[in-house]
Amino acid sequence: MIMTEGVYKAFREKDREIIALTPLDTHIKKGECILCWGPSGSGKTTFLNLISGIVKPTGGRIWLDGEKFSRLPEHFLSRIRRDKIGIIFQQFHLLSGFSLLDNVAMPLIPLGLNRAERHKKARELLTKLEMDHRLDFPVNHLSGGEQQRAAIARALINDPILITADEPSSAVDLKTTEQILDIFQKLKAEGKTIVMTSHDPAIKDADGLIDRTIFFERAADIPKRKTGSIGDVFE
Ligand SMILES: Nc1ncnc2c1ncn2[C@@H]1O[C@H](COP(=O)(O)OP(=O)(O)OP(=O)(O)O)[C@@H](O)[C@H]1O
Ligand SMILES: [Mg+2]
Repeated sequence: MIMTEGVYKAFREKDREIIALTPLDTHIKKGECILCWGPSGSGKTTFLNLISGIVKPTGGRIWLDGEKFSRLPEHFLSRIRRDKIGIIFQQFHLLSGFSLLDNVAMPLIPLGLNRAERHKKARELLTKLEMDHRLDFPVNHLSGGEQQRAAIARALINDPILITADEPSSAVDLKTTEQILDIFQKLKAEGKTIVMTSHDPAIKDADGLIDRTIFFERAADIPKRKTGSIGDVFE
């Protein structure tokens, strides 16, 4: 389903290079539910961004569903994201001022469905997720937990084969965490491949949810200054 070979990401920040993700080889099979676990700054979000085609690797290769996509131009990546990937962002990235229904239906626009068809699909999904009592609410009037579930619904509307979720329980209470876990359990039962990051023991220990954990370690920043020493870098 997803294979990476020596995939890594470096960012240039002023006069030094930040290694966001050290080379990683991994093979995630279809239907697996993977937890990315590790300290803050160890590259978990970067890894999700790489496998969902939001950022390009500095080196190494990525295959998704048999397609090598690490070097594809942006318009191919956006097609793959549109057709195959549901991305649940940590910061939600909902469109403020638009209704819950419009937000969830939005990813269907490029698929050529008309407004009535888009709304029908979004309404069905939101009913399944027990959020149909808030359909006309502007998303910015929803509670944090409702916004998190709205972000999940938007990620699921295109029936993706891969779902990535960045810290899906970090901004919500225990009850919402349980609702989110319930959604993930159902997605897993449907055979979806799920890759998520979390620091939350409630997710790590959720009954039968996580098939495998990928452990991340923080890379030391590599000093690239012409003068100075390693000690300078962290001042
Ligand atoms: N666009 C960027 N430019 C420069 N450095 C970046 C950029 N994105 C990430 N980094 C750096 O890469 C490292 C890994 O970041 P990342 O967000 O992947 O960590 P993380 O494991 O998700 O951390 P957290 O648990 O806090 O969410 C961090 O040191 C971060 O500062
Ligand atoms: Mg992160």
